[in-house]
Amino acid sequence: MGIEQIVVEQLSAGIGVELKGVDFEAMAPTRPFIDLMKRLLDEHRLVLIRGQKIQPVTAQEFTGNFGPLLDIKRQGSGALHVPEAEWIKVISNGKTADGQLLGDGNSSAQIWHTDSTPWEAPVGHIAFYCRQTVDPAPETYFMDMIKVYEALPQEMKDRIANVRVIHHWFPRQIEPEIHLNAPSQPLEDRKIGTLHPLVRRHLGTGKPILYLPTRRDSLIPGMDEAESRALLTELWDFVDTCPFKVGHAMMPDDFLIWDNSATVHSRQGWDADKVRIMWHISAEGEVPIPLHPRRTMNTIGLDADTSKEINKAMAMVDY
Ligand SMILES: [Fe+2]
Repeated sequence: MGIEQIVVEQLSAGIGVELKGVDFEAMAPTRPFIDLMKRLLDEHRLVLIRGQKIQPVTAQEFTGNFGPLLDIKRQGSGALHVPEAEWIKVISNGKTADGQLLGDGNSSAQIWHTDSTPWEAPVGHIAFYCRQTVDPAPETYFMDMIKVYEALPQEMKDRIANVRVIHHWFPRQIEPEIHLNAPSQPLEDRKIGTLHPLVRRHLGTGKPILYLPTRRDSLIPGMDEAESRALLTELWDFVDTCPFKVGHAMMPDDFLIWDNSATVHSRQGWDADKVRIMWHISAEGEVPIPLHPRRTMNTIGLDADTSKEINKAMAMVDY
């Protein structure tokens, strides 16, 4: 069974493709299939393949083609996950018959976010494999942040070209209730985080990505608190108006992989007394590369004072 018979169909006008004619378990270790998936993810950000019977080790090893696998299971919870597959994090609100958690997570809806943005090298690709869902099956939504950037008015592109944002850590920030009602952390605490460019370069295509922190109260060096919040709120409000998205209700045996660096995702919630079970595998991405990296000038041959003047003008903002 080769990749020649695979049919690629657009999932929506905005983002994603679906593949038909795939036997994932057989094809996943083969170079032509891996290359095809990498190319499709670079071009479309998301690939869906329905109706697959996949072994845990196959799902892990395939995702490992995109970067080092990451163990992001919540530590100390005693949850079951998939004992023979150390890189699979089960996302579920369920428990075994004797009360052990099946995995991490709950049944809450989630607001738009990119996973792990406060990390120096955030998650690059994420694979999802649905084992059990609820009725009605909740939808997960994905938005293409390369297209969102392209759609920004030129005036905004100019404004944010060199902006950096401090991504601070905020527990359960993706739950709507926390997003709407939890108080901000103190200003000093919000200065502790990872500084990322607001516009980063997509390594697969070279295109600019609008790379937003989930928290609107994140701080931007060189702006005061109110200005930072106003800019991030304006950008998120713009995201909300964009059509470059797709919703998919994951069904059992659906396999889906997406480019977490160039997308945001969100989901519907469901009744807490019903159980959904997903396998979730994360591969590390790159340290976000600014679209316009800062450089010092070449001042060889200039006197010390002139050299200092030139580079002072280009100095990095202290935070
Ligand atoms: Fe997420």
